[in-house]
Amino acid sequence: MTASGNEPSRSEKAASASDVPLEDRYFLLIEAVQDYAIFMLDPAGNVSSWNPGAQRIKGYSHDEIIGRHFSAFYTDEDIAAGKPARELAIAAAEGRVEDEGWRVRRDGSRFWANVTISAVRDASGTLLGFAKVTRDMTDRMRLAELERASEVSAQVQITRENEQKRIARELHDDLGQQLTALKMSVALMEATLAAKAETAPLVPQTRAVQKEIDAMAMSLRRIASDLRPPLLDDLGLTAALEWLAEDFTKRYGVAATVHIEADEPQFNAQFNEFASTNLFRIVQEALTNVARHANASRVRIELACVGDRVSLDIEDNGVGATLTLPPVSTSFGLLGIRERVRQLQGTVSFASSPGTGFHISIRVPVAAVQ
Ligand SMILES: Nc1ncnc2c1ncn2[C@@H]1O[C@H](COP(=O)(O)OP(=O)(O)O)[C@@H](O)[C@H]1O
Ligand SMILES: [Mg+2]
Repeated sequence: MTASGNEPSRSEKAASASDVPLEDRYFLLIEAVQDYAIFMLDPAGNVSSWNPGAQRIKGYSHDEIIGRHFSAFYTDEDIAAGKPARELAIAAAEGRVEDEGWRVRRDGSRFWANVTISAVRDASGTLLGFAKVTRDMTDRMRLAELERASEVSAQVQITRENEQKRIARELHDDLGQQLTALKMSVALMEATLAAKAETAPLVPQTRAVQKEIDAMAMSLRRIASDLRPPLLDDLGLTAALEWLAEDFTKRYGVAATVHIEADEPQFNAQFNEFASTNLFRIVQEALTNVARHANASRVRIELACVGDRVSLDIEDNGVGATLTLPPVSTSFGLLGIRERVRQLQGTVSFASSPGTGFHISIRVPVAAVQ
């Protein structure tokens, strides 16, 4: 068979395009639409036409629904509140009504619908019925809900960080100052006691009190910097990471090293407060995991900027883990890391298997951290 034998002839082509009467073409168009339920109601609100999109969205076949009142699509609450009749009345009076809300499928399940009802009249203005177009917006609504939840969770995190910052500052400035003053008073007291032979034996006791005050001051500094590392606000992300690694090495005896690789000389200045807090907390959580689970002897933290991406990698040489998906619901550490990365519009992957250590790999667009 020749190529031209497969093709419709010129006259056949013409026939498929415009020889179909206009009315039939509209019918074919509506029949082809899958994403919208498009149908007609008679003036009393009974269904008088039905398209495959309507069957797909609402679940009724053509024969099941023709002739039934359209209130079948509404929830019991809406029916009790008289909503179907009210919408028809508005459409009749104003030509058109639009509504968004829950609707009910044949099987009783609900979907979030965007609905328009338009009055259809003949040339003399007599009401012939209504054209109704319904779109299933459930997925969109879920997406919007997710977006809202994510905004709320980012806001909660910011509020928590600010609160921790406030508490850390008060601990440092207020309680810290008072401890310093107390230590000076005790030192003065010591000098007074030392000056007289009969009170001199009390001097060792004041020394002991001063030692206790020093220990308190140290605890206070540790608690304050756990709440909010002062370096993060004063010197930026990279300095705070260096401090974190050093502190981790001291606390747990696991050698933690930080490697910064960036094209930009002003690397630190690139990170806005939200981003540097998030990246810092991610590394903090990862290190907590290394201390708790890894039994590692070293952990490497690498922060790099390549082109328009910032990458953060945390890799240890410990026992590793079998990663289950989805993670167990009691494990909030890795989930928290995921959430923080998502808020920075980035991607994260966890790689590990028993014996191979644990590797967290994060990529974030530079634009999201500036
Ligand atoms: N560095 C690591 N080395 C080995 N296993 C790890 C490491 N980090 C995480 N894991 C594994 O992943 C699991 C989930 O971690 P996470 O979400 O932080 O929860 P949690 O620390 O509360 O158990 C841990 O229970 C552990 O089994
Ligand atoms: Mg953890």
